[in-house]
Amino acid sequence: MKRIVVFGAAGHARVVIDVLEKTRLWDIVGVISGSQAAVTNQVFGCTVLGQDDDLPRIVREQEVHYGIIAVGDNFLRDRIRRKILSLCPDFQFATAVHPDSSIARGVAISEGSVIMAGAVVNSDARIGRFCIVNTNASLDHDSSLGDFSSLAPGAVLGGNVRVGAYSAVCIGAMVKQDIVIGEHSVVGAGAIVMQDVPGYSVCFGQPCRFVRERVPGESYL
Ligand SMILES: CC(C)(COP(=O)(O)OP(=O)(O)OC[C@H]1O[C@@H](n2cnc3c(N)ncnc32)[C@H](O)[C@@H]1OP(=O)(O)O)[C@@H](O)C(=O)NCCC(=O)NCCS
Repeated sequence: MKRIVVFGAAGHARVVIDVLEKTRLWDIVGVISGSQAAVTNQVFGCTVLGQDDDLPRIVREQEVHYGIIAVGDNFLRDRIRRKILSLCPDFQFATAVHPDSSIARGVAISEGSVIMAGAVVNSDARIGRFCIVNTNASLDHDSSLGDFSSLAPGAVLGGNVRVGAYSAVCIGAMVKQDIVIGEHSVVGAGAIVMQDVPGYSVCFGQPCRFVRERVPGESYL
């Protein structure tokens, strides 16, 4: 088993720890917290080793070269990745796939992405880098998630849907086949998406409608 650290100490991190444990591929050395406020002794039974800035020391002391960024916010995940690589340029990122997810033939899953329990990724779908396919979410055939994008629990993409980089399809939203969702957009909880979604926008409703523009990094969780 390879040694790994988990970046993040909140609820999403606990779910990611569970996925890593279930894969039986990783020896979790501990957790690295983003802020002093979040530092406690343990997270879900894993020792908190320090904060992001402590990474060079942790890599040296723990002889760990793999990590996974277990933070739900898409933009923040990229910010953390950049910080990690500025501190330790050779650091590598794991991909974690829950054994109770269904991954079809022809699927590509890139580094740093996490697939949760009950997720279905159907034939020839593509998951970009540092994505989240959350509990019971699904992407149907030929769909793709851009880097740092996410499907919240129960989100459903029909076939050949394209989700742009950094975009979030929120809890329980459903997206018709062949739809394109631009980058840095948020499709709100429970939306039914029947038309393309422009980039840099928030939209929701049944049917889903454009609500307002959005700047990259704006909070949505
Ligand atoms: C899309 C989203 C980010 C919008 O947030 P927001 O812009 O801050 O919107 P607000 O919460 O200020 O709500 C503004 C209005 O829109 C309504 N609204 C917000 N989201 C809505 C949605 N998804 N569907 C229908 N109406 C919605 C609110 O009820 C509110 O209506 P009101 O003015 O009549 O009270 C948010 O609704 C959402 O879906 N968050 C993601 C939740 C999620 O998936 N979590 C996953 C955890 S793993």
